[in-house]
Amino acid sequence: MTNDSSLSYAGLPEAPSSYWLESTEREQFSSLDKDVEVDVAVVGGGITGITLACLLAEEGKRVALLEAGRLLTGTTGHTTAKISAQHDLIYDELIHHIGAEKARLYYEANSEALAFIRERVSKHHIECDLTREDAYVYTTTVDNIEKIDNEWVAYQRLGIPGERVERIPFEIDSKAAIVMSDQARFHPVAYLQHLVKSFVERGGLVFENTTALSIDHGDPASIVKTAAGHTVTCRDVVSCSHFPFYSVQGFYFARMYAERSYVLALRMKDEYPGGMYLSCDDPPRSIRQVHYNGENLLIVGGEKHKTGQGICTIKHYEALEQFARETFGDLEIAYRWSAQDLTTLDNIPYIGRVTQNEPYAFIATGYRKWGMSTGTAAALLLKDMILGVDNKYEELFSPSRFYADPAFRHFLSTNTDVAVHLLAGKLELVRRHPDSVEPGEGSVVQVYGKRAGAYREDDGTLHLVDTTCTHMGCEVEWNEGDRTWDCPCHGSRFSYKGEVLEGPAKKPLKSYTE
Ligand code: FES
Repeated sequence: MTNDSSLSYAGLPEAPSSYWLESTEREQFSSLDKDVEVDVAVVGGGITGITLACLLAEEGKRVALLEAGRLLTGTTGHTTAKISAQHDLIYDELIHHIGAEKARLYYEANSEALAFIRERVSKHHIECDLTREDAYVYTTTVDNIEKIDNEWVAYQRLGIPGERVERIPFEIDSKAAIVMSDQARFHPVAYLQHLVKSFVERGGLVFENTTALSIDHGDPASIVKTAAGHTVTCRDVVSCSHFPFYSVQGFYFARMYAERSYVLALRMKDEYPGGMYLSCDDPPRSIRQVHYNGENLLIVGGEKHKTGQGICTIKHYEALEQFARETFGDLEIAYRWSAQDLTTLDNIPYIGRVTQNEPYAFIATGYRKWGMSTGTAAALLLKDMILGVDNKYEELFSPSRFYADPAFRHFLSTNTDVAVHLLAGKLELVRRHPDSVEPGEGSVVQVYGKRAGAYREDDGTLHLVDTTCTHMGCEVEWNEGDRTWDCPCHGSRFSYKGEVLEGPAKKPLKSYTE
């Protein structure tokens, strides 16, 4: 990623922080410090893991929920939190790729997820800003009008309630838009805190700062091993972590790619006209409102690039800031944060058995940017699979599926990309010395003739890491906006000290200073 000495944080909060996490008090849980035995081990404390754990506990299952960091601090805590079956423009593509029947199932699975959240919030009186909203996809370019029209034809064919319109209610020169009626927004952390509480009240076990490393399959029990050397003995194991912690035989690192995108939360003065908006242009733009605990915020998201690739990441925030100011006037930026999303080769998530040979090992991943609805749909499907109940969505989301076109073409281009990055970092000529790295700055440097990563804290402390990714050996790049080392090959991310923030890597970068 390009270093740019001209960057500034003017107008932007200096450090990234998610509004969803900052605006809620979250209970802390201890790490697993002994061996335990349960019916189901759920790995990953985001929307899928928490919802699934809660549902299984309600069915009388003994469940352990394991999270490598703290609950909700992964993608779920960094979303734009739209709950919608309108996943950008997808239904025309799905009809051509998998047929109208399965495309309709995709819509139904996500609509049922939204209905589940609505029912839950209503039944338990959960204060989480759940609000009905129409969802819009719009374009500002004439070239994309045809795509909107094709999607509208797909809506009509699949019986999706909506409308084709010209304009959206902002100072944006939209050329065409498509509306999906009666979708929703919410505060995901406020909602999921309630589910965590309910899970614990039913005897569910939660372990934070507990990294699951591997599974030993046995009959009738499997054993999940943690990084600290403890075990969870169980029948079923579900990987709901962003990147599957267990994917050896499924080769998921080669079947998904990671993208980063950016979000600003701005304090609003004016009335908001309602609705949730997404442009299908490049770069995309996302708009929605938050009204929670007396705070009235506008959430503007967008930009995107493959993890570890592209321009200096702070420039993406600046581009969003410019868009927000041009569209909504001079608003105060209260928060900025970024998110990482995984996309599968055919744009349909992988939800189900890791491989057909492993009846008790499940995964849920690859939601693109639509984890609120798809993560909930995954929990509903996986609950049925674990309980042995038929579910009409099992085949659609099966990780073992192979729809040849366009997935295979995409598979080839994705892996060519990896090969390029595997070589590029190794051949790069780095001359910079670590002594020249300023406080608050991160950079690739040369140490004893070898490429290394340097970050100097404001107090002058220098951190030096080996930039070779511990997953498969690509060279990580500096991410200025988040102050992390990001891998361009499969999206692993590391703190400036080298700790793993996102997989598939499981081991930290080697440190030269600690
Ligand atoms: Fe695969 Fe880094 S994430 S090589």
